[in-house]
Amino acid sequence: MHAIPQSIDETQELLARTGYICGRGLATVTFLGLKLGRPLFLEGEAGVGKTEIAKALAQALGRRVIRLQCYEGLDAASAVYEWNYPAQMIEIRLAEISGDRDREKLTGDLFSERFLTRRPLLEAMSPQPGGAPVLLIDELDRTDEPFEAFLLEALSDFQVTIPELGTIRAAEPPIVILTSNRTREVHDALKRRCLYHWVDYPDMERELAILRTRAPEVSRTLSEQVVAFVQRLRTEDLFKRPGVAETIDWARCLVALDAVQLDPETITNTLGALLKYQDDIARFQGSEARRVLEQVQAGIGSAA
Ligand SMILES: Nc1ncnc2c1ncn2[C@@H]1O[C@H](COP(=O)(O)OP(=O)(O)OP(=O)(O)O)[C@@H](O)[C@H]1O
Ligand SMILES: [Mg+2]
Repeated sequence: MHAIPQSIDETQELLARTGYICGRGLATVTFLGLKLGRPLFLEGEAGVGKTEIAKALAQALGRRVIRLQCYEGLDAASAVYEWNYPAQMIEIRLAEISGDRDREKLTGDLFSERFLTRRPLLEAMSPQPGGAPVLLIDELDRTDEPFEAFLLEALSDFQVTIPELGTIRAAEPPIVILTSNRTREVHDALKRRCLYHWVDYPDMERELAILRTRAPEVSRTLSEQVVAFVQRLRTEDLFKRPGVAETIDWARCLVALDAVQLDPETITNTLGALLKYQDDIARFQGSEARRVLEQVQAGIGSAA
């Protein structure tokens, strides 16, 4: 277990050691979130490293990461705890056969820890050997408002009451990170509890550093070309712009094809690693790939 970092620089360094390269802004809110014990609310486009920072932080601090993946229809039972009905039914049948327990004793046995299925929120509030875990509440925008209201309450007092067992309170509150792709606005009341940060696409220098860290097998020259091309592509009018995850994927595809540098044909053949909509792909095939590549090469040439 690593102690909580004491400065923004230390936070940045700690994350970098796990391979997560973040800018000053994200390092600042992360440091403040840890220092003040406030949840982080991270919004941003797909594939910019929102989910990854929770994993990186957990690794850096030697904590467990507990993930609550949100989806439409997610309810408190799936988020906090459930009773294991099939196991309870078997226990009842066994008690009937052996006839060794009275009704009260059986009920007590059935609603004990043994038959409790802990879901992420309860798990995050239970004591963990390595210290308070990182609780990642991922893609919050996919749930509905009632669940948000429920979450607001859970995050304000970090305790869960199970009628049959009593109240379970986190001895040390978890480190909470919420993410959203902003397919809808999350309620102000929840946002107000958190420190907010918009995770943007990294600039050229940082994206190159990320690619070099995540895919060291890609040569420096090819990495530079890949990053410059993706950065240029993001300025085009696209239905869906590629994220950092796509940059890394694409570079790996190019290496798998033994490409040493970019050329229009290779780009056309591998666009599926970068762009995920047929309209975007159709637009950037052939002559458009050549045009963007020429602009990129002119840019790299003038920068050198
Ligand atoms: N700053 C970064 N440093 C290192 N790697 C990064 C960084 N940002 C993104 N990545 C890489 O990009 C991949 C995708 O990031 P991640 O899954 O966190 O994106 P996301 O923002 O959660 O996207 P989505 O909204 O689609 O869930 C990660 O697995 C990681 O390898
Ligand atoms: Mg994610």
